[in-house]
Amino acid sequence: MTDLLNGKVAIVTGGSKGIGFGIAERFTNEGATVIICSRTESDLSEASDNIGCDSYQLDVSDSNKIRSMVEWFTEKYGKLDILVNNAGLIRPGRINDVTEEDWDLQLNVNLKGPYLMSSNFLPHMNKGGSILNIASTVGLRAMKGAVAYCASKGGVVNLTKAMALDLAGKIRVNCICPAVVDTPMVDERVQSGHISRRILEKVQPIGRMGKPAEIASMALHLCGPEADWTTGSIITVDGGQTAA
Ligand SMILES: NC(=O)c1ccc[n+]([C@@H]2O[C@H](COP(=O)([O-])OP(=O)(O)OC[C@H]3O[C@@H](n4cnc5c(N)ncnc54)[C@H](OP(=O)(O)O)[C@@H]3O)[C@@H](O)[C@H]2O)c1
Repeated sequence: MTDLLNGKVAIVTGGSKGIGFGIAERFTNEGATVIICSRTESDLSEASDNIGCDSYQLDVSDSNKIRSMVEWFTEKYGKLDILVNNAGLIRPGRINDVTEEDWDLQLNVNLKGPYLMSSNFLPHMNKGGSILNIASTVGLRAMKGAVAYCASKGGVVNLTKAMALDLAGKIRVNCICPAVVDTPMVDERVQSGHISRRILEKVQPIGRMGKPAEIASMALHLCGPEADWTTGSIITVDGGQTAA
């Protein structure tokens, strides 16, 4: 470890599991003070104990709860350096059968969540800070049977670019688009019988799923001092998936 984030304060949404946990763990090991947030208190406290970081229970689609978190945060920590908008969920559904409820849930959490977190925390961010959005390769090219998820992630890709333009010279805004990463989200899809692990491994030319730590390495680069000139960038970390 290189202490690249010494003295920095970072919030990672969806940090109790999967990719968010991997990012929070890496940032903590690199010297940052990290606050993870998600909805399930028991998962949050277990994760924050494991990582050795702080936590705050939050639904990223709830603007009132976010405003309360901002008050709590500014009193306890003052200013923020890094915001990672990682919290997300997937519900299957094609254009002809997706329910309005599932559409709203995915758009509210996956796309409105990053907007609400960013707009509420921006006034409390240090100049030179950094926002990282976690989209997906399906934000760049769609997959069958997940119309709302694809729409939400395509939105996150362009939200990143628009924010980067608005905030240029003040806050850098970047986006990682992972392919399939081995997390509880993927386990759930496998357990529900929607798809097999073998197929999920084969959709990457490298022949395996990614690991949360491999997304965390790119997150560290994008949020750290070595990416000072990088903003508005959409980076795939995908085992070669989008090369095909
Ligand atoms: N795994 C993949 O293959 C893959 C690929 C591309 C992109 N991604 C994206 O990467 C991100 C992380 O995915 P993952 O695979 O690590 O998922 P995961 O294992 O299901 O973890 C998701 C995390 O987000 C939290 N979360 C969900 N809804 C939330 C809400 N409304 N408010 C606050 N927290 C919420 C969850 O905790 P609670 O449920 O307790 O709130 C959990 O901590 C997501 O945005 C996902 O779309 C994943």
